[in-house]
Amino acid sequence: MSSTTTEHRREFGEHPDRGGKPLGESILKVTGLKKHFPRKTRGLIPRADSPVKAVDGISFELHRGETLGIVGESGCGKSTAGRTVLQLLAPTGGTIEYLGEDITGVKGAKWRRLRTEMQMVFQDPYGSLNPRQTVGAIVGAPFHIQGIKPPKGVKAEVQDLLARVGLNPEHYNRYPHEFSGGQRQRIGIARAIALRPNVIVCDEPVSALDVSIQAQVVNLLEDLQNEFDLTYVFIAHDLSVVRHISDRVAVMYLGKVMEVADRDELYANPQHPYTQALLSAVPLPDPRKENKRDRILLTGDLPSPINPPSGCVFHTRCPKFRMELSDADKARCTGEIPQQREIAPMHEVACHFPGAPKVEILELEEVPEAPPELLAEIEEVAPPFAEPELLPIGDQDLEADEGRDPTS
Ligand SMILES: Nc1ncnc2c1ncn2[C@@H]1O[C@H](COP(=O)(O)OP(=O)(O)OP(=O)(O)O)[C@@H](O)[C@H]1O
Ligand code: SF4
Ligand SMILES: [Mg+2]
Repeated sequence: MSSTTTEHRREFGEHPDRGGKPLGESILKVTGLKKHFPRKTRGLIPRADSPVKAVDGISFELHRGETLGIVGESGCGKSTAGRTVLQLLAPTGGTIEYLGEDITGVKGAKWRRLRTEMQMVFQDPYGSLNPRQTVGAIVGAPFHIQGIKPPKGVKAEVQDLLARVGLNPEHYNRYPHEFSGGQRQRIGIARAIALRPNVIVCDEPVSALDVSIQAQVVNLLEDLQNEFDLTYVFIAHDLSVVRHISDRVAVMYLGKVMEVADRDELYANPQHPYTQALLSAVPLPDPRKENKRDRILLTGDLPSPINPPSGCVFHTRCPKFRMELSDADKARCTGEIPQQREIAPMHEVACHFPGAPKVEILELEEVPEAPPELLAEIEEVAPPFAEPELLPIGDQDLEADEGRDPTS
């Protein structure tokens, strides 16, 4: 985390790491959120079958200006969670509160207005941009769709945005294929910040990029967060990137949150056996320590979200279940779903038997910080620009534009 970012974040938060100051206002509160994808069996008479429980009752709260990292194995439901929070996918259950208001299932004009306040940056910088549109059209689309007319006009605003994310404003008329992967991700970021949203869900925004380019994009996201007081949900599978950028981290497994805590607390004092296993898999930079350290091995593959294990969904792979628990305790793990509960201030765990494992795992100072390239500064670009003027939008326009375009 850059020093400016740290200072910025010191304004928020109540835990020791943030100087004991009060948290920023609650901006997003997700409670018991579910997204189940229905399935139909093939055959003469198609019938409904067990759904894919991609997200199955997750809860977390986001405060203004902070970054919540979401980590977990491939297929655990990170992207589905991000899209469902933004309601690009309709939730199957649970509630989403935005600035204290329940926005679950909002439609029409209200939904479109929310789209100006919550945006998404996608993983694939190649697939998420329309190859037939110029960069100017892509970044300018949110203004047209929302009926917002910036004071200087859309073109000038878009050129300011391009400059702000480190692109040449003269490239307004170029097409996505004329840019590198990192530049395309900058285009996606320019589009996401165009309407000055409050919340941005970044779904693996740097995973497809080279490490040195990752550094620049992560630094850009941090700078924009400071400048526009943005709140991020940052989805990633790279624990060092998540450690670098996040204030708090949620660990997901099979559609559920296993543990959520302040970043330093989570890395130093993981309480859930799954978090402990994930951290123990991070290689240490010092080969002597690396060779001496015990690893917590997870056996078996991620079970299917169509038919998740009973009780605690992690019990089929849990090292503590396998090696440490009595038969009576195991029966509890297989028979009773552990709920997310607070075991320390702002530290929630979904496990009946949280606590340190018997094997040695990473110490905080040993968890590798992001590679030096990741900390490289990006060059200063254009100065901040004025807030766009919000013009009244008729409901007729909004209804005409009802198709839910995730890019707008
Ligand atoms: N539209 C869909 N229809 C049916 N199943 C889906 C759909 N989208 C996702 N899934 C399933 O939901 C589960 C979670 O998928 P998701 O893409 O959210 O995982 P993820 O954690 O983002 O994985 P990755 O790290 O690979 O991106 C997976 O089993 C996936 O196959
Ligand atoms: S509830 Fe039981 S099976 Fe699940 S993580 Fe905790 S100890 Fe392991
Ligand atoms: Mg994903």
